[in-house]
Amino acid sequence: MLFSLSSPVLLLLIFVLIIESSTGNSCKGQVDQIDTCKAVVQFPGDCDTATVNLTDTDYAKCNSANFFWSYPVHNLTLIIQTPFTAQKQPYTTYFDNEQIVSGISHVYRIFNNQETDVTTKDKTLIQYSDANYQVVLKFQGPDHLQRYGVNINYDAVSM
Ligand SMILES: *[C@@H]1O[C@H](CO)[C@@H](O)[C@H](O)[C@H]1NC(C)=O
Ligand SMILES: *[C@@H]1O[C@H](CO)[C@@H](O)[C@H](O)[C@H]1NC(C)=O
Repeated sequence: MLFSLSSPVLLLLIFVLIIESSTGNSCKGQVDQIDTCKAVVQFPGDCDTATVNLTDTDYAKCNSANFFWSYPVHNLTLIIQTPFTAQKQPYTTYFDNEQIVSGISHVYRIFNNQETDVTTKDKTLIQYSDANYQVVLKFQGPDHLQRYGVNINYDAVSM
């Protein structure tokens, strides 16, 4: 037996369902320091997008950093600051892309809440600092666990 729903109600239901599925669950990634500029990042599997914000952390003092994303699934957004940020100096970041492509399908650059797909097959992923002297990247891992972890390594060089 079919329900007879009036179309406004049906539209509202569809709308609610779309909102529900697009908002997703976000959380703060857990960062465990291993060395001065080296850490393990992880977050629970029920989190769709985790954010790791390096602002005002030890890692914002690093010209080179290594983050091991442990059990990569879903999305990890990394807000990068470097020593050049405090000096208000534009800089370039160089990511070891051979490591990235081994476990990450897409990389998005985020600026003003807008995502741009910057995925590349090149050996190095190159990104320039934004107007806030930051580099904000979203790394898209698989939907289901495929590998133990992936290294996100970068070097920052003043422009
Ligand atoms: C991860 O981000 C991408 C790009 O914005 C999006 O298409 C995808 O649905 C997100 N994945 C999850 C699990 O939220
Ligand atoms: C990152 O952290 C800084 C300092 O805690 C905060 O001011 C800023 O709003 C955070 N950025 C985001 C996008 O959450």
